[in-house]
Amino acid sequence: MTIRCFYFLTLISFFILIKCKNVSGKRVWPVPYRRFDRRPPTDPYCQALYPFCPTGDPDGRIPSMRDSDVISVFRLQTPVWEFKYGDLLGKFHIMHDAIGFASSETGRNYTMEWYELFQLGNCTFPHEREGVTAPFWCNQGAACFFEGIDDVHWKQNGTLEKVGEISGKQFNELAQWVQQDNETGIYYETWTVRSDPGPNSTTWFDSYDCSQFIHRTYRKLAELGAKLSSKTQTNYTKIYLYSGEPTYLGDDGSIFDQPSMKNLATDIRKFYHSFQPHQSKLQFILSLLEVYEKVVLEKTFYMFYNFEYWHLPMKPPYIQITYEEVPLP
Ligand SMILES: *[C@@H]1O[C@H](CO)[C@@H](O)[C@H](O)[C@H]1NC(C)=O
Ligand SMILES: *[C@@H]1O[C@H](CO)[C@@H](O)[C@H](O)[C@H]1NC(C)=O
Ligand SMILES: *[C@@H]1O[C@H](CO)[C@@H](O)[C@H](O)[C@H]1NC(C)=O
Ligand SMILES: *[C@@H]1O[C@H](CO)[C@@H](O)[C@H](O)[C@H]1NC(C)=O
Ligand SMILES: *[C@@H]1O[C@H](CO)[C@@H](O)[C@H](O)[C@H]1NC(C)=O
Ligand SMILES: *[C@@H]1O[C@H](CO)[C@@H](O)[C@H](O)[C@H]1NC(C)=O
Repeated sequence: MTIRCFYFLTLISFFILIKCKNVSGKRVWPVPYRRFDRRPPTDPYCQALYPFCPTGDPDGRIPSMRDSDVISVFRLQTPVWEFKYGDLLGKFHIMHDAIGFASSETGRNYTMEWYELFQLGNCTFPHEREGVTAPFWCNQGAACFFEGIDDVHWKQNGTLEKVGEISGKQFNELAQWVQQDNETGIYYETWTVRSDPGPNSTTWFDSYDCSQFIHRTYRKLAELGAKLSSKTQTNYTKIYLYSGEPTYLGDDGSIFDQPSMKNLATDIRKFYHSFQPHQSKLQFILSLLEVYEKVVLEKTFYMFYNFEYWHLPMKPPYIQITYEEVPLP
């Protein structure tokens, strides 16, 4: 071995050592949401009860505006559902958020939103499939852009408020970003996991849902130079879990294909067994209450994030649904 080669190998092992130290040492919180090179096709097992984005362009194209056009931007919000269940979790305030655009040159308007391909239940709980040991997730989410704003739908029990104006040029730049974001951020995440409800808590995992898309879009608009403002408080739904520091467990291959991991695999399957995805929102809320009872009892939650599993040592108040302010950028 030449001296040079020896130095080279020493250097390599040095970097490997550093890398390993990083992996076993301090984690980065919140765990970064994994981006993909491109969106893979959905598994044929996952069948949508309601078609995704029925009135959008099949290829997700967004019309191009003239640079000089003036486009109004609307904040859109409507309750998905309201449900009172004793005093346990109070009143659920589960809202759906979207963003509207109206061109002053053409008079046409558009709605843009980001949601589950197979509904919320399928994004929150996996399926048990015959002959497949790992829980099976139908958890893709995506952006939907379509022509029209249904004023009554948003106004009647929710919000339809103009929050700013942008140029056609800014709109076209935004459209490009949306396509990119849609192609690389492919799965829905219901839960936000934090160390406690206080202001200085550590966030272990961030959700990736319809309102997060709206916040990203507002931030992008601000980055493109848009001035946004609202006359009212801009509140959004968050579904929280509270836990001590999470422990990384592994992915499907390292947990469900390894005989040595049999006990863990069984525990994860057992954990999700009670919460098979449901069709109705009522059943979904009932499942959230079951999750609550289960985590209070067992203090354990198996979190699925970036297609990997983590163990959450759960602690009070365990689970919370809040409707809290996130100001416009
Ligand atoms: C959830 O996924 C299952 C499995 O593909 C499917 O049968 C069901 O229709 C989906 N639910 C909804 C509401 O789309
Ligand atoms: C986002 O991706 C989905 C799934 O492939 C597609 O149906 C939709 O049209 C895309 N939306 C946009 C705005 O590109
Ligand atoms: C969107 O366009 C429709 C049809 O022209 C109109 O009825 C509606 O008021 C418009 N909404 C907004 C917010 O511009
Ligand atoms: C608004 O709420 C009322 C009462 O809950 C309901 O009857 C009505 O259908 C809602 N309207 C829309 C557009 O969702
Ligand atoms: C949060 O952190 C800030 C800055 O470190 C500190 O001033 C404040 O007292 C903390 N608040 C709580 C509730 O711990
Ligand atoms: C909106 O959020 C603020 C601050 O997070 C909160 O004080 C307020 O009660 C919320 N409004 C509603 C209607 O829940």
